[in-house]
Amino acid sequence: MKKLFIVVGFFLSIVAKADEGMWLPQLLEKINEGRMKKMGMKISAKDIYDINNGSLKDAIVSFGGFCTGELISNQGLVLTNHHCGFSAIQSHSTIENNIIEKGFWAKTNKEELANKGLFVTFIKSITDVSDKVLAGVTKNMTESERQSTIDKNIKQINDATKLGQFEKLFVRAFFEGNAYYLFITETFNDVRLVGTPPNFIGNFGVDSDNWTWPRHTGDFSMFRIYANKNNEPADYSENNIPYTPKRFLHISMKGVKENDFTMIFGFPGKTNEYLPSEAVQQIVNINDPAKIYVRDKALAVLRKYMHTDKAIKIQYAAKYASIANAWKKWQGEVLGLTKTKAVEKKLKHESTYNTKLKANTTLNENYAGVLEKLNGAYKNIEQFGLVRDYYLELVSKVELFSLVNRMVALNNTYKKDAKEFKNAVERQLNLLPDFYKNYNSEVDKDMFIEMMDIYFNKISKRFIDANALEQFYKNESDLKKWANKIYAESILVNSEKTLNSLKTNPEEFINNLMQSEVVVLLNSMNTNYREKIATQLNKIQPEIDNLQRLYMKAQMEVMKDKKFYPDANSTLRVTYGKVDGYSPADGRVYKFQTYLDGVMEKYIPGDYEFDVDAKLRALYEKKDYGIYGVNGKMPVCFIASNHTTGGNSGSPALNAYGNLIGLNFDRGWEGTMSDINYDASLCRNIMVDIRYVLFIIDKYAGAGHLIKEMKLVYDK
Ligand code: ARG
Ligand code: ASP
Repeated sequence: MKKLFIVVGFFLSIVAKADEGMWLPQLLEKINEGRMKKMGMKISAKDIYDINNGSLKDAIVSFGGFCTGELISNQGLVLTNHHCGFSAIQSHSTIENNIIEKGFWAKTNKEELANKGLFVTFIKSITDVSDKVLAGVTKNMTESERQSTIDKNIKQINDATKLGQFEKLFVRAFFEGNAYYLFITETFNDVRLVGTPPNFIGNFGVDSDNWTWPRHTGDFSMFRIYANKNNEPADYSENNIPYTPKRFLHISMKGVKENDFTMIFGFPGKTNEYLPSEAVQQIVNINDPAKIYVRDKALAVLRKYMHTDKAIKIQYAAKYASIANAWKKWQGEVLGLTKTKAVEKKLKHESTYNTKLKANTTLNENYAGVLEKLNGAYKNIEQFGLVRDYYLELVSKVELFSLVNRMVALNNTYKKDAKEFKNAVERQLNLLPDFYKNYNSEVDKDMFIEMMDIYFNKISKRFIDANALEQFYKNESDLKKWANKIYAESILVNSEKTLNSLKTNPEEFINNLMQSEVVVLLNSMNTNYREKIATQLNKIQPEIDNLQRLYMKAQMEVMKDKKFYPDANSTLRVTYGKVDGYSPADGRVYKFQTYLDGVMEKYIPGDYEFDVDAKLRALYEKKDYGIYGVNGKMPVCFIASNHTTGGNSGSPALNAYGNLIGLNFDRGWEGTMSDINYDASLCRNIMVDIRYVLFIIDKYAGAGHLIKEMKLVYDK
């Protein structure tokens, strides 16, 4: 009897701790509320999302379109990750005033720093428009016929909706195109940097610690939204004033305990939870390894320069971090998918699905063969997908190629419309200085050598561009020699000459440029890619899209007792779980919380990843944690079983009462495969404890005036 209880109890505790899924806020009430309350939530689904009344969703923003942020004061203060604000932080850094290294805190609103191009977006409403969007779509349509019907329907919705100047509308596909939702958004374009901790706190552990637990990173930065005098969105103006939001989050001083209910509210970017076994097999064995290989080489080039040259280190910091981030994640993904036997799991799922399908005559009539065809289509795309991954990865690492692409685009505009050309040139004259600020042609030349080496040696001969190969042979198959020639001859690597020519005589400049060796080379490689690879992908991909959509629908009909959530697509989602440690391997157990003690344990004087400055060390020595420490210890990060992905960075971690307890910023190494195969025993999201954020702002940075703006609560 007792044994049975233990077994049942154990099962319940697993069941109760983790829930896979990134759920739609407008459907929480219908699908998830009961479950969330059972797990400990004390507020209602309507408190989270309510179309008619204020709700927590009014405090959440998409930050710059790539991260999440949240309002934490009635004066437009926004909290997000350090790595989300990093481009802005970098753009205000110089060798003389390096705020990456020193940190920055505005003492008054006047000192806050404007950021060209940075915006935040609120979601005003979410509406199911599946019927309208799918009107007229029939089973027998080709993918392109289907798409044009859908586009027409979306255009009608567009035309029928009145929008304010800063409002936008978009319609997104869910469940692989089985459902469509309409989003109305409001965007603020005046977002200023209020503060950031120095890099050694905001990015503590840099790449060694990235994607790992236990973690000790204070990954946060702070911005402020500005509005016009009427509290409406406006482009940047000196006269703008801090925005008064509809809602801002209250900050819990309570901290977390094991098993506490948590939820993450934000904008997860992209997941692939419903792939068939063949697709997962390819990710593990083909695609991830290829992309990892290219980035291995690219990172080695950057490292060589960044470790010896301070200016280059600043210039390439954001690029390095972004290349390294996915590179490391893919490695964790391969490991996790292998360890959890994800392919076998998919095969088992497929066999259960098939058994159930065959048992139901109607369903079987509708969907027989769909899964087999889908796996077959993936098999067919494999060789082209591999070249796509190599090619797109390597071409995008050579910055001269990206310059060429800009110029080719200008040339195409010129051929079409002389007036538009003038505007396009203006735009480039505006953008290029920012590009050149972070450009070093020696680094880039080395990159060219490494990337072209991969092009010629990793891609199967029949898919390589013959003209490129001929040029390569002409230069005695000596990439260094070839690169020297190309970079010496290309005017584009010289910012002054390029900007001057573009200013004085853009037509002639662009025209001449089109004959230059690098432009001819890239054009030829691109054409070759289009003809040999893109055409094949464009043939097979629609077939996959169609079958994937049918397979999704079939799974939902065949497995009626299962609750399905749509893959992430950069729209607002809620995911919930519990504060919980985990065991990544036999004999190893991870706790759910880390402390400042761990920062000190990792401390390596002078190290580029693990240095700690004297000020933080002194606070630690004196245990001077103010109201933010607990029992003489300063909490730093914690983990929970929330199902998150890229884009969720900066998302608020909320407790049972909907109060802010942390800031999501990462996942554990063993669980980065959650984008493809969520596994409750291994997948954990990593958050910086909100008390650490407050401690750094108040005690470390002396920016206590910002804490006064916030609302700290001591909930039960
Ligand atoms: N891995 C986290 C995410 O995907 C954090 C990345 C920023 N940190 C870093 N060391 N690059 O974005
Ligand atoms: N670090 C990621 C982000 O920037 C979050 C994740 O992938 O877990 O969105």
